[in-house]
Amino acid sequence: MVENILEIDRINLFLVANFIILRATNVSYLKLRRIPMKVAVLGAAGGIGQALSLLLKTGLPAGSELSLYDVAPVVPGVAVDLSHIPTDVKVAGFGADDLNKALEGSDIVLIPAGMPRKPGMDRADLFNVNAGIIKTLAEGIVASCPKALVGIITNPVNGTVPIVAEVFKKAGTYDAKRVFGITTLDVIRSEAFVAELKGVDVATVKVPVIGGHSGTTILPLLSQVEGVSFTAEEVAALTPRIQNAGTEVVNAKAGGGSATLSMGAAAARFCMSLVKGLQGEEVVDYAYVAVENGDAEYFAHPVRLGKNGVEEILSYGELSAFETKAKNDMLETLKKDIKEGVDFMA
Ligand code: NAI
Repeated sequence: MVENILEIDRINLFLVANFIILRATNVSYLKLRRIPMKVAVLGAAGGIGQALSLLLKTGLPAGSELSLYDVAPVVPGVAVDLSHIPTDVKVAGFGADDLNKALEGSDIVLIPAGMPRKPGMDRADLFNVNAGIIKTLAEGIVASCPKALVGIITNPVNGTVPIVAEVFKKAGTYDAKRVFGITTLDVIRSEAFVAELKGVDVATVKVPVIGGHSGTTILPLLSQVEGVSFTAEEVAALTPRIQNAGTEVVNAKAGGGSATLSMGAAAARFCMSLVKGLQGEEVVDYAYVAVENGDAEYFAHPVRLGKNGVEEILSYGELSAFETKAKNDMLETLKKDIKEGVDFMA
């Protein structure tokens, strides 16, 4: 009898302990998924900055902070405007002299500051103006939030990412896992164009895009798209369409700037991947990152994201003969773009 009672007590104890463990893990799981983030957007009053900030105001985890910085005097107004949207994300605007205040404590910094293209320009034409802007902003990150994950949108991305890396190296704060060129726009354009061409549900389309972010350095891997196949003619037409999609927008806006709304959506999507990684979720996305012994010093790869930014640079897999040739042909341009960024800081 006593033994039976003890046995029942043991079972009860076991069940209660299990219940407590399950509750505890559940609670911590829920907390994990809701870790608030501080995200700073530098260049927040611009076309991309405003679209991106809107999507972050409505998409960041509850309790997060959104810090908007721009040299344009309208930026406090953009913050007030966004603050009237009823989500649990605090928004604050910071003007020209308050870069450090804007950046303090940031987990993620996104940079769409700088001049966009006009018809007839390619991204390399922006280097002279945007290199100095990106350098100043990177120095601000060194001073105020050197551990933040930094996503660079400012063109030419092939060269601005090396500038940021060189600023961090000079300051002794460089961590290659934390610096990203955002190439998500090439990925979402590819998804949209493939779905349109093949008449498939766009939500199911995944297109790897590797290389850099300008002209021929953008390399969509159409041979790896699952569930559809392309003729040689389709590959020959679709590849340059994806590579020149930015110019399609620049020309259609007829002097009014380059892609802002689709880029805002792309950067918000990439930011959410960074957030998920910081929260401990497994997530794979594409970005232009520093690679050791890769095709070039910086190259867009699939990367596994986590609490430290890039946890692993993944292989982009087998390329078709067309893609291998396109990759080999673009490397010289990409390496020249990278060198221009590195040399700017020499
Ligand atoms: P925009 O002219 O609408 O906005 C740029 C903003 O940057 C302005 O509000 C301006 O005041 C601000 N700014 C300039 N200097 C600054 C500084 N030192 N500190 C803080 N803010 C500063 O331009 P848009 O269309 O938003 O484009 C921004 C950049 O993004 C351009 O360089 C453009 O080429 C690039 N871009 C990149 C894409 C990508 O896929 N990575 C796609 C499309 C554009």
